Amino acid sequence: MDHATELSDSTRVAEQYATTANLLTRRGVWGPGPEGVSPVDVLRTLVVAGQHARIIEIGCGAGQFARSVLDEAPHTDYVATDLSPAMVEASRSLGLTAHLASADALPFADATFDGAVAAWMLYHVPDLDRTLAEVRRVLCDGGTLYVATNGSEHLGDLLREAGGEPLVTQFTAEVAADVLGRHFSTVSRRDIETRATFADHASAQAYLASFAPHLADALPPFEGPRTYSGRTAVLTAR
Ligand SMILES: C[S@@+](CC[C@H](N)C(=O)[O-])C[C@H]1O[C@@H](n2cnc3c(N)ncnc32)[C@H](O)[C@@H]1O
Repeated sequence: MDHATELSDSTRVAEQYATTANLLTRRGVWGPGPEGVSPVDVLRTLVVAGQHARIIEIGCGAGQFARSVLDEAPHTDYVATDLSPAMVEASRSLGLTAHLASADALPFADATFDGAVAAWMLYHVPDLDRTLAEVRRVLCDGGTLYVATNGSEHLGDLLREAGGEPLVTQFTAEVAADVLGRHFSTVSRRDIETRATFADHASAQAYLASFAPHLADALPPFEGPRTYSGRTAVLTAR
């Protein structure tokens, strides 16, 4: 199975997100890159600046992004959705309105929302075009979709050191604008370099173990902290 197929295989996705543990292990290591900004901050700034009345987030994970938007824009009607019951529960524990829903079958009427968020999740959906058509359906005319995803060289050095290869998904930063352009008339993209800092070898192994245990075992030992670069893009489609 290649990376793209593996990452969007529904059984593997369900296993990967059966609890919040893998996601939280990975989120914790990321910080700003050379430009001094992190993609999450760029994404949040764009979403808040959009001044939307009703936002749907698909694949909301543990809900931290939704919570952070609501902290800055408390009057937004923000609905967080995810396929994983554990993620929905975690989101609710942050005080969010959260629903269990597959991104390709959203339980909402046409044109319900004026904003949508899909952060680091479109590489997981089994049918990208079906999912994007569904997001388009629940967005009103002129509604905006905000997206974050990784480039094909994301953590490439760490993956190669561990004997693996970069993760080329179905929705890399390199192809994301073209894919979104099949459903939206205007797409903009900002590439952002980011940095993962591991305090020691064990924490780099823990990161790898959260999605590829064989690579964790194969990572050659190193002393002290290490930093690796990540490649991401934040896109806006309307
Ligand atoms: C990499 S995590 C990202 C979570 C969150 N957006 C963030 O940035 O922290 C991917 C999330 O998408 C969810 N997911 C995967 N496939 C999905 C689908 N088809 N429909 C809805 N959610 C999905 C997973 O359960 C997981 O919570």
